[in-house]
Parts: sequence; structure tokens; C-alpha cells
Amino acid sequence: MTAADPDPAMPPPVHLLHLTDLHLPPPGETVHGADTASRLDAVLDDILARHGPGGEMPRPEFAVVTGDLTRDGEPAAYRRLRAALARLPCPAHLLMGNHDKRAAFRATFPEARMDADGFVQQAVHAAAGLCLMLDTLEEGRPEGRLCARRLAWLAARLAESGGAPVLLFMHHPPMPVGMAAMDQAGLMDAAALWAVLAPHRGRIRHLFHGHLHRPIAGAWHGIPVFSLRGSAFDVALDLAPPPRQVSVEASKTPCYAVIRVTEDSIVAHTRALLPTPC
Ligand SMILES: [Fe+2]
Repeated sequence: MTAADPDPAMPPPVHLLHLTDLHLPPPGETVHGADTASRLDAVLDDILARHGPGGEMPRPEFAVVTGDLTRDGEPAAYRRLRAALARLPCPAHLLMGNHDKRAAFRATFPEARMDADGFVQQAVHAAAGLCLMLDTLEEGRPEGRLCARRLAWLAARLAESGGAPVLLFMHHPPMPVGMAAMDQAGLMDAAALWAVLAPHRGRIRHLFHGHLHRPIAGAWHGIPVFSLRGSAFDVALDLAPPPRQVSVEASKTPCYAVIRVTEDSIVAHTRALLPTPC
């Protein structure tokens, strides 16, 4: 048997879609000169053609969008997002990024699950594993926070879940990446997060995040980490010492990822599309 042959003793692979940093503005507006809505449409067109009815690719269990759903939390942008995501061939779980606003999000997505403190956090018991979706938004601030209440929610979900394998999803990456401007806007409570996760390290299989607008693969405390450019625009790679400014690159190639999960492997495939007109 080769690596390409399915093992009849193993459950079939599960596939997830990872989208991030959509930065959708209200209708008729742009972001950094880009028509981010048309880029999201290109992503959805591609997903539908490949993973939708009649498509040759596997049907995803769900899609997750790791934050920065809108340009600046505008109600009209959330309404536009809801209409766009209705095209997905699977359920979608939406996370908060630093460009989002919870009240406006809830007004348009009233069915979205949140914790008892009103944070947009949820535990999804999926075929892919226990998917814990965290809310790192500190409204009005670019950096991310996981306050004591949010971490207590996370600790409780881990404690009650026995030995279930865990996938983590969040907007802000927990580790510095060497890009001074982005690291200043990183997660401020990474040490506290690790203190909660460390006792469960053996079953935390992967962490997926957004925020950086860059393709990222690495590890944090041994946990594999992945992110992608997303659909809106790129951030330039800048590893020079601080002070630095975030530099947006004029990439026109939106992308998304297909995550393939089996009992003994996780593979993230990035799918970059042809350039969009603007
Ligand atoms: Fe973003």
C-alpha cells in the first residue's frame, strides 16, 4: 500500500475551507483602492465550481473565515457579506478580526453563536475534531486580546472535552513573526493563552489564523500554525528593525485554502486564483 492508497481501516478525509481577511466595504466602496468584493466573489465562484454541486472536489464539512470580515464593521458591509456567503456549499463559521464590530455583526448574523459574555466564540464538534473558534477582538484596537473571561471559556471547553483532538481558529497569530509593524498589532495575551493550552498540548493538532495577509507556515510551542494571504490584499514582507509601517502590496490574486484532515495528518492546500481586474 502506498501513501496514495486509502486505508480501509481509517475514516475518510474531512475537508474544510479556510478564508480570511475579506475586508468587505459597503457597496460601491473600495479598500486601499481594491474592489475587495469582486475578489471575494472570485473566491466564491471558484469554491462553488470545484466544491459545490457538480464539482469534482470534495464537499467541505464547513468553511471558516478567520476575521476581518469587513472594512470597518459597517452594517451595510455585513449585510453584503451575508448575501455573498449564502453561495457557499457548506456552513460557514465567522470569526472577529480587528476590523470588525460585534454589535453590527450580531445584527446581521443573529444566529451566530457566542459565549455567555457576548464574545463571538464557539466550540464546533465536527468530524474534523473539536474546533475551538476564539474571539481576539479588542474593539477599536489593532492588537488582539484574550481576556480572563475569554480564556476561562476556552479552559472550560478544553476541560469538558476529554481527549478529543482539537483544532484552533483565531484572527490574531499567537506568535511574533518578525514583522515589526504586524507584531505590534499581534496577540497581547499569548503567554496566558499558552498557559491554558499547555496541559492539552498533546491533542491540539493545528492552529489556523488570519491578520497577517501573508502565507504563513510554522509552529508555536510545537503547535503547527498556518495562515494565508486571504482575498482582499497582501501585506509586504518586511523584516527590518522597528519602527516600521504596514505596507500594503497591490496583489490582485485572491486565495483561499482547503484543509484536509485525517486521523494522522493535516494538510493545508492554498488555492491562488488568477488576478482580478482591480
Ligand atoms: Fe486584515
